[in-house]
Amino acid sequence: MKRMTAVLAAALLLSGCRAQTANEIRIGLITPLTGDVKTFGESVKNAFEMAVDEANRAGGVAGMKIAFVVVDDRNDPTEASNAANLLINRHKVHAIVGSVTSKATIPVSDLAQGSKIPAITPSATNPKVTVADGKRKDFMFRACFIDPFQGRVMSRFARETLRKEKAAVLFDASNDYSKGIAEFFGNDFKDLGGKVVAYESYGKDDVDFSPLLTKIKASGADVLFLPDYYNKVGLIAKQAREKGIKATLIGPDGWDSPDLVKIAGDAVEGGYFSNHYSPEDTRPEVAGWVKKYREKFGQTPDALGTLAYDATNLLLDAIRKAGGNDPLKIREALAAIKGFKGVTGEFTIDGNGDAVKSAVILRIVDGRQKFVKVVDP
Ligand code: PHE
Repeated sequence: MKRMTAVLAAALLLSGCRAQTANEIRIGLITPLTGDVKTFGESVKNAFEMAVDEANRAGGVAGMKIAFVVVDDRNDPTEASNAANLLINRHKVHAIVGSVTSKATIPVSDLAQGSKIPAITPSATNPKVTVADGKRKDFMFRACFIDPFQGRVMSRFARETLRKEKAAVLFDASNDYSKGIAEFFGNDFKDLGGKVVAYESYGKDDVDFSPLLTKIKASGADVLFLPDYYNKVGLIAKQAREKGIKATLIGPDGWDSPDLVKIAGDAVEGGYFSNHYSPEDTRPEVAGWVKKYREKFGQTPDALGTLAYDATNLLLDAIRKAGGNDPLKIREALAAIKGFKGVTGEFTIDGNGDAVKSAVILRIVDGRQKFVKVVDP
């Protein structure tokens, strides 16, 4: 009950006093503003509001102004369900942007589907976000690639570029994203002729990884795949180095936070991770976006914020094409998106509601993310 009140208060606070009129488009944003991955939530909120403001300043979309409500899910699946319920049933939104992580977005996708309200996640990459038990959730979309691709990108890179032979994988068994990509990576690494010499898991609240790292050290792994969000990765990396593990550390998009290096210090130096965009990309779309975001928020936009800007603009484009706020028509327009030019690349939505996009590989050098290469699907 206490939590629900907090969520509601946040929603009201952030939405300001917006009268609900028929002649407006109401969009809800679900994002983790507090909790273990709050840097994700903050940049997503910044970028979402920027896209909506730009559209409103340009006169609105389909002849209507856009009103919005932001709700915090704290990166928790139950909070995310509450948030989606609140947006759909109380605020009567016409569409949702969110949530941000897979574990929070999977419950949101089920509620959006059940209520026939279209939703687009900027960044949740687990396959179960758009498809459950082989069945497409046709009201759910995403502005990013999916984890089978991301797992392949990093296993290939480990085998073919870094020439690693023995991989250890350490993941959170309670987190759909972490567990999913651990499997994709491990299977691909084996298919490419490598050996998975350790495959260990921990729980959501664990902070001492010592016994697992002892096993990993003994396995003789030359590469350690850490598929989790920055806060856990930071802790694990530190403890791994303290144990004397010298393996190269690699991981997926969950590493993307300025806080990773703050937590891990030198421990992640030289590590590699896959991501959705690099601010060093010289395309004018990217340079313009980085400049605009820096001017407003005094920070370089991360992939989360950049994807949120693209996801919001994709949704606004769909509303424009739908000619109004009818959720069924917005859904159809989202499903039909082809060649939409965003900051992170061109968007074509496939039959599962997923975006087919390139990945980038980044390396942590002197505590900063350095562009290494682009990998096309
Ligand atoms: N892909 C992550 C997930 O599904 C979320 C994420 C995206 C994190 C991009 C960082 C950067 O949970």
